[in-house]
Amino acid sequence: MRLEGKIAIVTGGAKGLGGEMAQLFAKEGARVIAADMMPLTYEADNVEYYELDVADGAACEALFNYAKDKFGRIDVLVNNAGITRDAMTRKMTDEQWDKVMAVNLKGVFNLTRHVGPYMQAQGGGSIISISSVVGVFGNIGQANYAATKSAVLGLTKTWAKEFALKGGNVRVNAIAPGYTMTDILKTVPQDLLDKFAATTMLGRLGQPHEIAQAALFLASDESSYITGQTLQVDGGMRL
Ligand SMILES: NC(=O)c1ccc[n+]([C@@H]2O[C@H](COP(=O)([O-])OP(=O)(O)OC[C@H]3O[C@@H](n4cnc5c(N)ncnc54)[C@H](O)[C@@H]3O)[C@@H](O)[C@H]2O)c1
Repeated sequence: MRLEGKIAIVTGGAKGLGGEMAQLFAKEGARVIAADMMPLTYEADNVEYYELDVADGAACEALFNYAKDKFGRIDVLVNNAGITRDAMTRKMTDEQWDKVMAVNLKGVFNLTRHVGPYMQAQGGGSIISISSVVGVFGNIGQANYAATKSAVLGLTKTWAKEFALKGGNVRVNAIAPGYTMTDILKTVPQDLLDKFAATTMLGRLGQPHEIAQAALFLASDESSYITGQTLQVDGGMRL
């Protein structure tokens, strides 16, 4: 029970990586709020669904107030909700650019701006934001997505400094997953996925539980001296 008694919020927790994290955290003893635009695709004890669009600032504040009033503390926040709207830069529409910024970047800010200071005041917590190898290496056809995922790394270092002020003891880290088998890869052609797999030392794509295990480590007290870091969980891509 590595998260015994902890209260966790996981955005985008209805399926994919967020779904894996929510279920694993609950199995490890946490009470989890899985906040998503769509209902949960699974049933799990101690995981409750909360309908949320992370791009909606007022709704994020309402979720923060709900969690704080219901549980009296928040120990873990995973900023996981994310989308792609891929296009080559010369063809990218304002709508594609703005939508990805709103969800992947502003969405991360919208909740953390409330939860970070609250954790600081309560004397501790762990914030994890899901970046991507695309934020580290860049990727053709993903200027909007890459920009948001790189920005998450800057936010992570900034918040690691801000929320540690005055002995806040809030740890803030990012995970940069490699290509991992979830619905987000549905639009990527198989030959491209094979190419990505070939760029890893392990010669394969990731599985959701492999990202969730990394999140569990960063959420738990086992990582109590780790903050401001990016954990690249990508099978050794382009080493
Ligand atoms: N799967 C990969 O290969 C991979 C690699 C690197 C990073 N990531 C990142 O991991 C995170 C999770 O992705 P995934 O692979 O599980 O994708 P997914 O599409 O399977 O799941 C994403 C979840 O986020 C939810 N969501 C989308 N927009 C939302 C919004 N505005 N508000 C609340 N919830 C919203 C969706 O409903 C869905 O449940 C994303 O941030 C993604 O960018 C994924």
